[in-house]
Amino acid sequence: QPIPPTPLPENDFLIIGHRGASAYAAGHTLAAYEMAVLMGADYIEIDLQMTKDGKLVALHESVVTLDNAQQAVADVTFDEIQLLSPGKEFDKNHLSYTLPNSLDLRIVDLSKILTYFGDRVNYYIEMKSPRVYPGIEEELLRQLNEHHLLNRDDPIPKVIIQSFSDKSLQEVFALEPSIPLIKLYKFSKKAHLTKKELKDVTKYAAGVGVNVEAVNHKFIDKMHSENLLVHPYTVNDENMMRSLMSFGVNGIFTDRPDVALRVRNDK
Ligand code: G3P
Ligand code: CA
Repeated sequence: QPIPPTPLPENDFLIIGHRGASAYAAGHTLAAYEMAVLMGADYIEIDLQMTKDGKLVALHESVVTLDNAQQAVADVTFDEIQLLSPGKEFDKNHLSYTLPNSLDLRIVDLSKILTYFGDRVNYYIEMKSPRVYPGIEEELLRQLNEHHLLNRDDPIPKVIIQSFSDKSLQEVFALEPSIPLIKLYKFSKKAHLTKKELKDVTKYAAGVGVNVEAVNHKFIDKMHSENLLVHPYTVNDENMMRSLMSFGVNGIFTDRPDVALRVRNDK
């Protein structure tokens, strides 16, 4: 008998460290994730791609530049991907968050992240290009199960899965209905879902993740009236965080978890 999803707290303001504390360290590295945790983020956000050799890698881009040529992540091995530099060095203003020396700034695979953090953090995982990666849903669930991160009794869910692909989310829902799912949208104008879209999404999702520029009070109220949580992305401005919190959003994706913590603590 499947265990229903742990409800996400409605009245809370979850702080989701977008690619870790990615304003301060190269996103998707263990260092950026550890910094988000030290700052007090509720979740670390991980974008997932899958390499040619079947590794789930924490990476935003589905195409990378290797040997001066553009290549799909799906066509290169994880070892090749690791030759890339994730970029940005540490922000010197944030060295007060002392990190273990062993945390380098390399691109990592999901298994390394799960092994390193275990169950001491909560994971908010995005399946980035599921149509390009057949089997990514099963492999993700296999790893989460292997690390005993599913079907637990925690105050907030240990794992949330998000995607722009409803097909992919529905597949996860069919395989493992206990995981709260967030359907992502990117609106070019004001956020709005048709009746049909609402009917479809409420069948499987706990909430929606929406680009912050498109969000307004009316949309947030509408989602809440449908029992859908609202998690805008990506919110780095302190005043915007305050406004969104006063509008009752249920969490934000941010590159600056330290600022979001300050806002939440000021409440
Ligand atoms: O997953 C929410 C948000 O992160 C989507 O945008 O492009 O930063 O993955 P992106
Ligand atoms: Ca993302």
